[in-house]
Amino acid sequence: MAGPRELDGSSLLLGAATASFQIEGATTTDGRGPSIWDTFCGRPGAIRDGSDGDPACGSYERLTEDLDLVRDLGVDAYRFSIAWPRVQPEGSGAANPAGLDYYERVVDGLLERDLIPLPTLYHWDLPQPLEDAGGWPVRDTAERLAEYAALVADRLGDRVGWWSTLNEPWCSAFLGYAAGVHAPGRRDGDVAFAAAHHLLLGHALAAEAVRAAAPAAKVGIVLNLAPVWPDGDGAEAGAAYVDAVQNGIWLGALVDGRYPAVLAALADPALVREGDLALIKGTADWIGINYYTPFRIGAPGEGGSELATMAYPGAPPLRFLPREPRTEMGWEVVPAGLEDVLVTTARRAPGLPLLVTENGSAYADGTRAPDGSVQDDDRIAYLQGHLAATRRMRDAGVDVRAYIAWTLLDNFEWSYGYTKKFGLVEVEPGTLRRIPKASYRYYAQLAAAARR
Ligand code: FCB
Repeated sequence: MAGPRELDGSSLLLGAATASFQIEGATTTDGRGPSIWDTFCGRPGAIRDGSDGDPACGSYERLTEDLDLVRDLGVDAYRFSIAWPRVQPEGSGAANPAGLDYYERVVDGLLERDLIPLPTLYHWDLPQPLEDAGGWPVRDTAERLAEYAALVADRLGDRVGWWSTLNEPWCSAFLGYAAGVHAPGRRDGDVAFAAAHHLLLGHALAAEAVRAAAPAAKVGIVLNLAPVWPDGDGAEAGAAYVDAVQNGIWLGALVDGRYPAVLAALADPALVREGDLALIKGTADWIGINYYTPFRIGAPGEGGSELATMAYPGAPPLRFLPREPRTEMGWEVVPAGLEDVLVTTARRAPGLPLLVTENGSAYADGTRAPDGSVQDDDRIAYLQGHLAATRRMRDAGVDVRAYIAWTLLDNFEWSYGYTKKFGLVEVEPGTLRRIPKASYRYYAQLAAAARR
C-alpha cells in the first residue's frame, strides 16, 4: 500500500469531518472558556431537545479511540476544528497552553496514522467574551481571529499544510445574527451583514497570520455554497437574492474584491472601509464546499417561511420548495446539485482547487443488522450518489481534490441537539460507545478500493 497521499490533485482524496463543539464535550476542562454556543444552549427553547455540548461525543477524552476510527476507515484525511475558547479562553491575549497541547496531540496523532490533518480555525464557537464585546458585527472581532490564528499556526504550522479559516460564514452571520436560530441568537438583518463583512475581513487577516508562521501553508475557506434554482414563474427575483447572499457575498469578495450590487448594506462605506475588499480579494488558496441540498425557490405566495426570509435580510418573501426524496433534515437529495455547485464554483473562482469539505445525510437509523449495528442503506445511497457526482466532475475537468464525508460520529447537531444523526458511527447515548454503522464499512471499502 502507498504511503500518505497528497492534496496535489493527482487523485481524489477521501476523508471524514467533525467539528469541536459538536463532538468534544469537556466544555470546562483544562481552562476552556465559554463559547457563544455554551451560552445559546442555556437559552430555553433554543435547542430542540434541550441538550448542550456536554458530553457531546466525549471526544476530548476519547481522542485515541476516535483517531483509530478514522485510521480504520482507511481514508486519507481528517477534517476537524480547533475550539478557539480552548486556545484563548478570553478570546484575546496569551494562549492557554493546555488548549494548544490538545490540538497538537490531534495533529500528531493524525500524522502518526498517515492521515492528513485538515484543521478549521473557526467552526462557530466564538469565545463568549468577544460576543459580550459585540461579536462579529464589531470590526475588532476580525483582528481577534487573526491573533488567535497566529497562536495556532505558531504551534502547528510546521506540521499542517492545508488550513481553513472559517466554516460556513453564511451560517455564522445570517443564522446567528439575522434568523437567530444559531448562536448568539440575535435577530437584526443589518447587523448580520456587518457580521458577514467582518468574518471575511477576519478570514483575510487570519490567512495572513497563518502564512506569516507557515509560508508554505495553503489557506482556504469553507463555504456552504448552494445551487439556487428558481421554481416556477415569478421565482427569479427571490432566487437571485438568495444566490447573492448565499454565494455572491463570499465568492464576490474573495475572487473579485466586490460585493453583489443588490446588497445595499454592503455598500455602506462606514462598514466596508476603503481598502477592505482589496485586502480580502485573493486571500483564499482553495475553496471548501459544504453541500447537502439545492435550494429550489418558488414565487412568493402561500406557505412562505418567515424564518427563511429572515435568514436573507432584504429578500422578498421566500418559499423553499424541496421535493422528494428528503433526509430527516427535510433536505432534498440531489447529487446533481453537487455537480452544479462544483461546476459553477470552478467557473466563478478559476484556478482555485476545490474540496468537498462536507457532504452527508441525517436518517433515523431504525434498521439494525444481525450484529446489532445500524444498517443505514439510505445513508449509503446518499454517500454513493454524491461521491459518484464528485468523481464525474473531476473527470469533466473540475479541479476537485477531496471528498470529505460529514460526519465521523453521530453528534450535537446545533439547534437540533442530538435529534439528527449524520454519523458513519453511532454513539450510544450514556455510554458513548462507538458502534460503526454499515455506512462506515461501505465507505471503508471505497477508501480501500481507491488506494489500490
Ligand atoms: C453544516 C455544518 C456542520 C453540520 C452539518 C450538518 O452546516 O457545518 O457542522 O452541522 O451542517
